[in-house]
This record gives sequence, structure tokens and C-alpha cells, in this order.
Amino acid sequence: LTKIRTSAPGKVILFGEHSVVYGKRCLATAIDRRTYVTLEGRAESGEIEVSALDQVFDGPLDGLRARCEESGEEPFGMCLGVILAIVQWCCDAPVLAFDGFSLTIESDIPIRRGLGSSASFCVATTSAVLLKFGKISNKLTDLDKKLVNEVAFEMETKIHGRASGVDNTICLYGGILSKLGSSLDVLPGIQLPLLIIDTLVPRNTSEQVARVKDRLASHSAVGHLLLDTLGHIADEALVIIKRSTAGNQLDLEEQLSELFEINQGVLDALGVGHEKVSAVISLCKKYECRAVKITGAGGGGSLIALADRSKSEGQSVSAALREAGFSVLGITTGAEGVR
Ligand code: MEV
Repeated sequence: LTKIRTSAPGKVILFGEHSVVYGKRCLATAIDRRTYVTLEGRAESGEIEVSALDQVFDGPLDGLRARCEESGEEPFGMCLGVILAIVQWCCDAPVLAFDGFSLTIESDIPIRRGLGSSASFCVATTSAVLLKFGKISNKLTDLDKKLVNEVAFEMETKIHGRASGVDNTICLYGGILSKLGSSLDVLPGIQLPLLIIDTLVPRNTSEQVARVKDRLASHSAVGHLLLDTLGHIADEALVIIKRSTAGNQLDLEEQLSELFEINQGVLDALGVGHEKVSAVISLCKKYECRAVKITGAGGGGSLIALADRSKSEGQSVSAALREAGFSVLGITTGAEGVR
């Protein structure tokens, strides 16, 4: 009986939220938080055991299907639905008899925070199940990764109804992803110490995307200039990242800090701010951390702040943010992709 272990990182958007909807560049990076999947063979043929999010399912595929329907949209039901779909993809419908297996899913990525928890789960689970069914090799060649990405994208679409392909691609390849129009490029990662600050105001991406659309409708010329500016910021960030070497980390952080600050000003001008977002920014500025911006849709949701290592302010600003009722997570960017 085989044992397979896979893992895939979460992600965060660095630059280009909203403007990416209008075809401008978006930069995302993998983070050092991961989903871990362990797949082990079981004696009972055609049976699956899934343990995830402190819940367990044990039984044949039909039972998995029934359990999925019964749990509706809950994360565990979603999880089972994706596993069922991957197994079906591997076996071709109708599902043939297969050697039973158990899947244990663990993750240190907070869910529903825009940190790619679902894409990370889809990539790690797809890799494990495709390996089990012999569809890819454990060498994870370029061709294997391409196949995992295609299946993981299908699974992401199943979860979200619509997906851009950014999340599954960055969680698969790791490092940094640049998306411009329909082209996706993966670059080696850079290690940035980031704080992810959650305002705890629920995200509503479609509402915020509609807000930007309204602003464009009422102030077309200015609105398009703002979007162009966001595109230029992401283009410039890419040049800075590509130029960076291990020796000039402080320079790199200083230059990206300024871009974070400009980017946040433009997002605010586009109307995707929120009083809690402003409260986080004021608090960060009080601790001399100007490099803070919305990540994702805004209107609440999360922000990212570049911790200034030279002032060792990371600790104190985190404490102040927590005291003010925000949730803070310290991460490092540029993590390795699927393993
Ligand atoms: C949300 O994470 C990012 C947005 O640009 C929306 C999208 O790209 O679909 C605001």
C-alpha cells in the first residue's frame, strides 16, 4: 500500500488588484503557509476515507457523493466535492473499481481571507490523487505540472464558479506570478517579510469590482488614468523584482515600499477603501510603516504591510494592530510551489 505526501503554498496579491480586471498587470506571490495532503493505501477496494477540517468521511464513492450533497456549500462538502471530481477525472466516468485510499488534509492557511486556501488545497490534492492513479510521476516534470494545473483550475472553477487561473498557477509553481492579459509568467521568488492584516470586515469581491465600474462610469477619463497608473506600478514593481539580487534586499524593500504607498493611494481614489482600512493605515504610519496596501478586493478584507527590518518595527506594529482588534499574520513571500 502506497503513501504519498504533497503540499502546496497559499498566495497573496502584491500589485494589480482591480486593474487586472481591465487587462493590466497583476503580481502575486506564494507565501510560506501551506496545505499538506497525505494519501495512504487502504485494504478496502473502492473506499475512500477523507479527514479534513476536523471532520472525517469513510466509505464508498457513492457515499462520498451523498455526503457532499448533504453538506451543501460548507468547506468540508466543497472539499469532498473536489476530491470526488478529481477521482472521477482519473477513472473516467462511470468510475471504475479502484484501490481504496485515505486522504488527510491539513493546512495552516486561514480560509476565506484571499490567501489562496482553496487553490492550495486543489493543487496539493490534485497532485496526490493524480500520482495515486499513475497520471503523473513523482518527479513532477513540467508536463506533470501542466496537467496538475489544468485539473486544479477545473477544481477552482468548481469551487468559485469563475476563476482567473492566477491562484492555482501561483500555488503550483510558487515564486512570483505575473499576469498580463491572458499571459501568465512565473518568476523566481523574492523573500519579503510581510504582515497580513485582516480588518475582519467580510470581503465582497463582486461589490468592490462593481464600485470601480461605477467610478469609471461617472469619471471615465480620470478612472482610466487611475487604472493605467495601477498597471504602471505593477510594471515597475516587476522591473525592480527582476533586477533584485541577494545583495540589495534593503534597496528592493525601500523601492517596493514606495510603490505600496502609491498603489494604496490610487486604490483609495478608486473607491475601494473602508474606515477599517484607513484605521489600519493610520496605525501603521504611526509606527513609521508607510508600506501598507489593500491586497485583494478591498472594502474591508485584508491589507499587506512590508515590515521594515532596519527599524525592527514589525513586532510593535503587530502588537498595536492586534490590540486595535485586527488579526495579524506574519509571512514570508516567494515560497516554493507544489512538493
Ligand atoms: C480580488 O482578489 C482581486 C480583484 O482584482 C478581482 C479579480 O481579479 O477578480 C479585485
